[in-house]
Amino acid sequence: MVKPNAPVALCLLEDVTPALLDLRHRLLRKGQPPESASYPDVDPLPTTKHLGAFAEERLVGCATMQADPSSTGNPTCRLRIRGMAVDPAWQGQGIGTRMVQQLQQWARKENSGIWCNARILAVPMYARCGFEITSEEFDMPLIGPHYNMEWNDAS
Ligand SMILES: CC(C)(COP(=O)(O)OP(=O)(O)OC[C@H]1O[C@@H](n2cnc3c(N)ncnc32)[C@H](O)[C@@H]1OP(=O)(O)O)[C@@H](O)C(=O)NCCC(=O)NCCS
Repeated sequence: MVKPNAPVALCLLEDVTPALLDLRHRLLRKGQPPESASYPDVDPLPTTKHLGAFAEERLVGCATMQADPSSTGNPTCRLRIRGMAVDPAWQGQGIGTRMVQQLQQWARKENSGIWCNARILAVPMYARCGFEITSEEFDMPLIGPHYNMEWNDAS
């Protein structure tokens, strides 16, 4: 059994894996059918990147970044974070923050900002990474309250 304080490495995944879908389902789609953890229109696209956080062989965190124009219409923000999750035993160690920072590095190479629909609980993590709230609070059915947040390198 890997200990929750073992070193964690971030790694670009070729595709979604059963472990990633399981993590998404447990953390983001609890009580919903397992297939709700898939984003069938997004996951297989060549423009979509899947990031895994691994403690030895075990996936303890995941995040996906897709090409998607910002809902605020900001033309410099063409990438979106989805499916951000860290196994509860591994939360509060900076893994989520590191994953966002890795996605920001990739976005810089594409000259793009990033946006996301952030759950209330995740707002401080995104704010720490330079994201700003760009909407009123809104409710997503079956999930709960969110804010739209956006990060641009120049902001
Ligand atoms: C949101 C989520 C991804 C954050 O993952 P995490 O790995 O716990 O995030 P971090 O450790 O980077 O930050 C969480 C807290 O740990 C603390 N922390 C401890 N050590 C830290 C470190 N070295 N660096 C940064 N933060 C650290 C921070 O104070 C932070 O608290 P804050 O966000 O209230 O300011 C995780 O809680 C999760 O999976 N939640 C359920 C699913 C979810 O809501 N996903 C987001 C959808 S928008």
